[in-house]
Amino acid sequence: MTSSSPDLSLQIGSLQMKNPVMTASGTFGYGVEYAELFDMSKLGAVVIKAATMKPRVGNPPPRIAETPAGMLNAIGLQNPGADAVISEKLPQLAEYDVPVIVNLSGESVDEYVQLAEKFSACGQVDALELNISCPNVEHGMDFGTRPELTAELVGKVRAASDLPLITKLSPNVTDITEIAVAAVDAGSDALSVINTLLGISIDVERRRPLLGNVTGGLSGPAIKPVALRCVWQVYEQVDVPIIGVGGIMNTRDALEFIMAGASAVAVGTATFVNPTASVEIVAGLQQYFAEHDLPDLGALVGAAHP
Ligand SMILES: Cc1cc2nc3c(=O)[nH]c(=O)nc-3n(C[C@H](O)[C@H](O)[C@H](O)COP(=O)(O)O)c2cc1C
Repeated sequence: MTSSSPDLSLQIGSLQMKNPVMTASGTFGYGVEYAELFDMSKLGAVVIKAATMKPRVGNPPPRIAETPAGMLNAIGLQNPGADAVISEKLPQLAEYDVPVIVNLSGESVDEYVQLAEKFSACGQVDALELNISCPNVEHGMDFGTRPELTAELVGKVRAASDLPLITKLSPNVTDITEIAVAAVDAGSDALSVINTLLGISIDVERRRPLLGNVTGGLSGPAIKPVALRCVWQVYEQVDVPIIGVGGIMNTRDALEFIMAGASAVAVGTATFVNPTASVEIVAGLQQYFAEHDLPDLGALVGAAHP
């Protein structure tokens, strides 16, 4: 054991995080729902559900289907709209000593820019995460599957906001590194890798797709090897912090992502199974770093690379 506790802090632009564990957008509501279960200030950051300009009711039900080692969701970005998120949700979150990252989803470049301006001006947000990878709405992945569109979007949002900018990438592409490089070259301070994988489940009695939206996003342990591969590839091509996301259920999973090249991790589906998974991972990482005499996070990031 080391005599002093390991330093797990990290910085993304002006965002200072005390440890690398955050929540994955859409799996932690607006944070306050979990405040009774654990001390949210123990987390590195809270990423809230996607906000859109106008309120969205989401997709028709059923919107969730269980799959082997995972789940399909087609929520469809249900949210009360940016103004309500700012006036109703963020003030509640401000009571907790934890950085807040808002996940933005627009239908056009202009809409992303307006969202970025709104949330930057509200003074209640520490970073923006651009969701250019939602498989559950029409055109939700357009900006995340074509590098020239990624570059245009990130560049315009970058010009509109001084907040740290994280771009969330889709695995539903041939070469994720092309999109990663486009986002970083256009000014993204960090990358979230990955959003869900596009999938389908069929109800064999009804002989129809199980989800009302037909397709949904696959998440959970089933996608972990794919997410790790994406983090690995992106790490070899860009020089900004990567937030690893996809099937992280426990400390061991989080360590795999860090060794593959992630500087931070986001916990998603695990929270549905175990609402305190994210804080348990914070404690587990602290223990691992101490037991292995690792002085700080940087000592392990990308350690599995040759
Ligand atoms: C029910 C549900 C809702 C989600 N909503 C969003 C969202 O609003 N914005 C976003 O960028 N990702 C969203 N995601 C994707 C997660 O943030 C995460 O990238 C993905 O689930 C993979 O991580 P996991 O396997 O740990 O869940 C959602 C995932 C689930 C399961």
